[in-house]
Amino acid sequence: MAALQSSPADAQAPLVLIWDLPTRAFHWLLVFSFAAAYVTAEWDRFLDLHAMFGYTVGGLVVFRLLWGVLGTRHARFASFWFRPADVLAYLRSIASLRPRHYTGHNPAGAVAIFALLGLTLAVVASGFTLYWGMAGKWMEDIHEAMANAMLVIVGVHIAGALVSSLLHRENLVRAMVTGRKAVSPEQGIAGTRALLGGLLVVAVLAFWVADRGGWVPHAPVAARGDHARGHDHGRD
Ligand code: HEM
Ligand code: HEM
Repeated sequence: MAALQSSPADAQAPLVLIWDLPTRAFHWLLVFSFAAAYVTAEWDRFLDLHAMFGYTVGGLVVFRLLWGVLGTRHARFASFWFRPADVLAYLRSIASLRPRHYTGHNPAGAVAIFALLGLTLAVVASGFTLYWGMAGKWMEDIHEAMANAMLVIVGVHIAGALVSSLLHRENLVRAMVTGRKAVSPEQGIAGTRALLGGLLVVAVLAFWVADRGGWVPHAPVAARGDHARGHDHGRD
């Protein structure tokens, strides 16, 4: 179960490592790749780049699913797998401006995280079938609708992170960068798994280089649905 602390974090307490490097690298690579996939979707001539960033997002999520089982304490799914009653209790505690404090992900954040991970896989799979000409216009509508749903959840996720940060007087965004929070030392993790985190970053960069170098298969233009064949429909 997740570590629930009855009182808010003590801002004076020493900072303790709770997010390992692979989790943090995953998050910020995901933010960049998701934004890049979203932006490149606007222009047909960037479709190959769009697929590259989309594949990156897919690969990152597959990594995160494995890390959710094999990773360190607060990164493991078991540590933020909550019952609906926990989610409601957390939302109620937010509404009363006395939010319950969790060392790792809080129950509302956990819902957004699982929704994002699941939707990402569906967006990547639908984009893949579209790109390789396995599905028609209807799939484009589904792909776009799910990508937009993701964007909405991302908006709620960011707002949630900011609101929780304010209410807890704890900078959650900085914690996702540094890996550290002011919690009791026994909540901490022993090591940051720097090697694996570094390997994840290198693997993503290597994939981008390989893609730009022409080593990653891309759909021939003729295979793409009508819509994806060379007319720009977005901003130019
Ligand atoms: C600038 C934009 C973003 C900010 C500031 C942000 C902030 C954060 C923060 C603070 C956490 C940790 C929450 C906690 O302490 O419980 C987190 C976790 C997470 N965020 Fe974001 N986020 C952003 C964008 C995104 C995007 C675009 C996605 C997905 C497409 C995303 C997916 C996730 C996931 C999956 C986690 C869980 C991390 C893990 O345990 O691996 N975030 N985010
Ligand atoms: C997180 C990942 C992804 C996001 C956020 C995303 C987002 C989007 C969006 C918003 C559109 C609609 C563009 C528009 O019509 O204005 C789109 C279209 C498309 N996406 Fe993705 N996508 C992702 C992943 C992928 C992947 C992995 C592939 C292929 C391997 C792909 C292939 C396509 C194709 C072929 C289209 C149709 C392009 C067109 O209308 O001309 N997408 N995507």
